[in-house]
Amino acid sequence: MAAVENDLAEIGLIGLGTMGSNLTLNIAENGFKIAVFNRTVETTRKFHTDAGSLAQNIIPTESLEDFVASIREPRVFVLMVPAGQIVDAQISALRKICGPNDLIIDAGNANFNDTRRRAKEADSAGHMFLGIGVSGGEEGARHGPSIMGGGPREAWDRVSHILEAISAKYETTPCATWMGQDGAGHFVKTVHNGIEYADMQMIAEVYGIMRDGMGMSADEISKVFTKWDQGTLKSYLIEISAIVSGATDAKSGKPVIDIILDRAGQKGTGRWTAIEAQHLGAPASVIEAAVVARNLSGSLDDRRKGQAIFGAAPQNMDKNALSIDQLERALIAGKIVCYAQGFGLLAKASEEFDWDLPMPKIAKVWREGCIIRSTMLNDMASALSENATENLMFAPGFIEQLKDTENDLRAVVAMSSLSGQPVPALSAALSYFDIMRTGRSTANMIQAQRDFFGAHSFERVDEDGAHHGPWNNG
Ligand code: 6PG
Repeated sequence: MAAVENDLAEIGLIGLGTMGSNLTLNIAENGFKIAVFNRTVETTRKFHTDAGSLAQNIIPTESLEDFVASIREPRVFVLMVPAGQIVDAQISALRKICGPNDLIIDAGNANFNDTRRRAKEADSAGHMFLGIGVSGGEEGARHGPSIMGGGPREAWDRVSHILEAISAKYETTPCATWMGQDGAGHFVKTVHNGIEYADMQMIAEVYGIMRDGMGMSADEISKVFTKWDQGTLKSYLIEISAIVSGATDAKSGKPVIDIILDRAGQKGTGRWTAIEAQHLGAPASVIEAAVVARNLSGSLDDRRKGQAIFGAAPQNMDKNALSIDQLERALIAGKIVCYAQGFGLLAKASEEFDWDLPMPKIAKVWREGCIIRSTMLNDMASALSENATENLMFAPGFIEQLKDTENDLRAVVAMSSLSGQPVPALSAALSYFDIMRTGRSTANMIQAQRDFFGAHSFERVDEDGAHHGPWNNG
């Protein structure tokens, strides 16, 4: 029997993994009827049974045809399947049975290059396609993620009421924003993840100083993070760092953090940020350092071999050489530099791909719901509203903060360096800061070398034009 119009779903979702299930419950809870489809029928049935009172807003379907037929036209399909080929396969299966006005949304962690290609393919096939970045993990998907959309504006407008309703709210403002055409949303999400890697790495670095340099216990470290979470560094990542440092392992009775192997996983979005930064020639050294550190965490055997040969670090850090307040201020400085690079990368991409990215809105959409949400993002949103393309380090509020914290970052990096404590992301931040306030750099030497071996020419400080040196080498 054909379903009557009122029984039809307003939206459909494919892929009932963790993110898909939670997003579905969020959509249902916000009063939208949603049809769901999953490759494994048992998953769909169990999900529907477990949905409790929300089940009345969820239509479980067991074939793609039934799924499509249970959604009101023009249809909206959300894909929450693993990034890569599965997305392409799902799009082509849907395209065979959907109408030209139907809209397909890829809400997974797609590579923005794939999203650009899919947008083009959809365009030439006369279909509508959106790529949206969804951040906030499991909890965010269920109770309010941060959503970064990319694709045709009219497609976004068709679903913005749903996306805004299910998104996190900063005070009352929904954290769901259209970023621009084709891959803009997924690019912004990728940079979010790159920054996520850098934020996490810098926190891990100061944690390392407290643990290994200052000999602090996990519980003492937890208390420090809790205190920092009440100040300038207030953020989700500092908050959870306090929680994970304070937790006890039921099996051993030890702090959980102490029994976790120091080998970190990754799905690759941080790496994509570093790759795209290199493609665009945008400096993202703090993110790159974090990606490298994450890669190196995997080289456990080599690191152990190195320790056996060279001895463990830190070798001679004076317990009192650095204060906790200095660590906090170093982290503030590192964070400002990292975000200055992240927003710089976004500005460069915006120009390159003709997106006209809404810079202040990006900072605003990250204020709640997502993994990198923090109080500082509100100040960044204000600075970017004043000047969207200026390096964030040069915004009045951040100039002051950097002047106040620069020496602490320097002390932390110097002390760590002297005692062999690795702080790659904080060091990268300091180097970038130092380069960015050096009016006369050493690139004159590079130009001289290039001219010497390749006759590439150089500019003079005292005369216009291209010049060559008196090398007499050819
Ligand atoms: C988010 C996160 C999420 C990401 C995980 C794990 O915004 O909710 O960025 O999308 O998948 O944080 O990422 P890695 O496995 O690469 O660490």
